[in-house]
Amino acid sequence: MGSVTRPAVLFVCLGNICRSPTAEAVFRARAAAAGLDVEIDSAGTGAWHVGKSPDPRAQAAGEARGYDLSSLRARQVKKGDFQRFDLILAMDEDNYEILHLQAPADAKGRIVMMMDFAPDHPERSVPDPYYGGDDGFARVLDMLEEASDGLISHLAD
Ligand code: 4NP
Repeated sequence: MGSVTRPAVLFVCLGNICRSPTAEAVFRARAAAAGLDVEIDSAGTGAWHVGKSPDPRAQAAGEARGYDLSSLRARQVKKGDFQRFDLILAMDEDNYEILHLQAPADAKGRIVMMMDFAPDHPERSVPDPYYGGDDGFARVLDMLEEASDGLISHLAD
């Protein structure tokens, strides 16, 4: 587990090729800009895309705003994640439920909805952009930029 001075956060979606690697890159850039020292990773509850780079559409949308996703590779959530990370941030309610079922009792409280850190945003889940158009990826970025700033404020408290 991360120490009090260096918290560890894990972003989780289904495939770990669209939303959670975007969250990882956005949060990494914004935390660095804020001078926040934090361990950051992302993972998927599913295993279909393990080892793959982020979806080219997620990479392109991120790059358009200055986020580099190219070095990221998909992995699946593993048992040790529930001990290693202080906060496990679910991108949507389905993945929140899956994480809750998988987590040991003493780690369930560390699982939170990412959009809880954007309380003014009307949606609680980051919509899965995989089967939609390119505008879905820009929308994901808008939501994750807002929630990342809220998460940074929370961790900096
Ligand atoms: P992600 O998007 O969970 O944001 O990475 C998805 C990527 C792949 C699939 C579903 C969602 N898929 O079914 O393959």
